[in-house]
Amino acid sequence: MATHKLLLLAGDGIGPEVMAEVKRVAQWLEQAGLASFAIEEDLVGGCAYDAHGVAISEAAMVRAKGADAILLGAVGGPKWADVPYEARPEAGLLRLRKDLQLFANLRPAICYPALADASSLKREVVEGLDLLIVRELTGGVYFGEPKTITDLGNGQKRAIDTQVYDTYEIERIAAVAFELARTRRNKVTSAEKHNVMRSGVLWKQVVTDLHARAYKDVELEHALADSLAMQLVRWPKQYDVIVTDNLFGDILSDLAAMATGSLGMLPSASLGAVDPATGKRAALYEPVHGSAPDIAGKGIANPIAMIGSLAMALRYSFNEGAVADRIEQAIAGVLASGKRTGDIAAPGMETIGTEAMGKAIIAELDAATA
Ligand code: NAD
Ligand code: IPM
Ligand code: MN
Repeated sequence: MATHKLLLLAGDGIGPEVMAEVKRVAQWLEQAGLASFAIEEDLVGGCAYDAHGVAISEAAMVRAKGADAILLGAVGGPKWADVPYEARPEAGLLRLRKDLQLFANLRPAICYPALADASSLKREVVEGLDLLIVRELTGGVYFGEPKTITDLGNGQKRAIDTQVYDTYEIERIAAVAFELARTRRNKVTSAEKHNVMRSGVLWKQVVTDLHARAYKDVELEHALADSLAMQLVRWPKQYDVIVTDNLFGDILSDLAAMATGSLGMLPSASLGAVDPATGKRAALYEPVHGSAPDIAGKGIANPIAMIGSLAMALRYSFNEGAVADRIEQAIAGVLASGKRTGDIAAPGMETIGTEAMGKAIIAELDAATA
């Protein structure tokens, strides 16, 4: 069995708490003979700043480039509110995404049947929901230049962020969306704001052209991003794959998370291009949620998004879809048995902590294997 080089970057806040449960699941997979990992750990975010004065060290970047897959917990928190902009915790994550060219961010929003009542939306609106947001992750306003604050000298300052997209960036993310749609319900919704933004005009044109050239068998619809936000709350089940830019994808995926019950439920995969020479691609897996400073240190965070991110690593980096399925079935089983962390519990329901949820998932894996 191949040994997979995994780099764990637990980060800040609840990051280390949920990462501890991923280690538990990884250990179980090894003991069950289902996977073999060579695990390294390093710092990213505020903890890296505290240790090295930067949000990610050069040594950690070297490790990241050498790993088969990276698992990241979360970065950020109020402790680092005043550190220099270049060294803020989030800069470590953004550098990983940019330097490893992780342009394709897959954010599945699946409503587990047992959680249909945990969503703030009505049961009939979310029950059976299974959509995939494909977010462009290395371009757009996150990285466009200029990106500055200047003093205008009259008591005013001017802040500039720049939205930039080239044809190839739109084309490659749209291709990922079309390819994935073919494995699902064969429909892609592309979201931009061509009514306001030049980048939206180019986005829509490039997606339309690529569709006509190579993906006519896939249903394509276009949506304005603001209207899509409304539709996601009204009737999210109309969507299969949504492809959109870096910023809209960030916002829409938090929105979609609530349809699944909690931000604590959403895993993600950030993928680079496949290297034709090796057949491999850089990949980082992380929950969609952040470091949750309001609950950090209390042992009550939901580890399911983080454990689901390990499942995505098995599926997308290690070609172990069946093992990923087992983890996801164990999660579904635990939820069906009524076990809940606070974020997914209905009022009055008994709740369990992070560690107990990790252990419950292990017990479910055990039961399914016996
Ligand atoms: P957040 O996602 O950390 O928290 C939003 C809300 O969701 C909070 O009430 C939190 O308690 C809850 N929540 C999040 N994850 C949860 C979990 N696993 N279990 C239970 N409840 C959970 O967003 P925020 O508060 O806006 O951001 C906090 C910090 O995290 C910021 O510094 C932000 O930049 C950073 N952040 C990091 C990442 C990342 O590392 N990928 C992602 C988003 C935000
Ligand atoms: C996310 C986060 C990040 C983003 C931050 C922490 C840089 O919100 O992964 O969704 O904005 O992309
Ligand atoms: Mn976000």
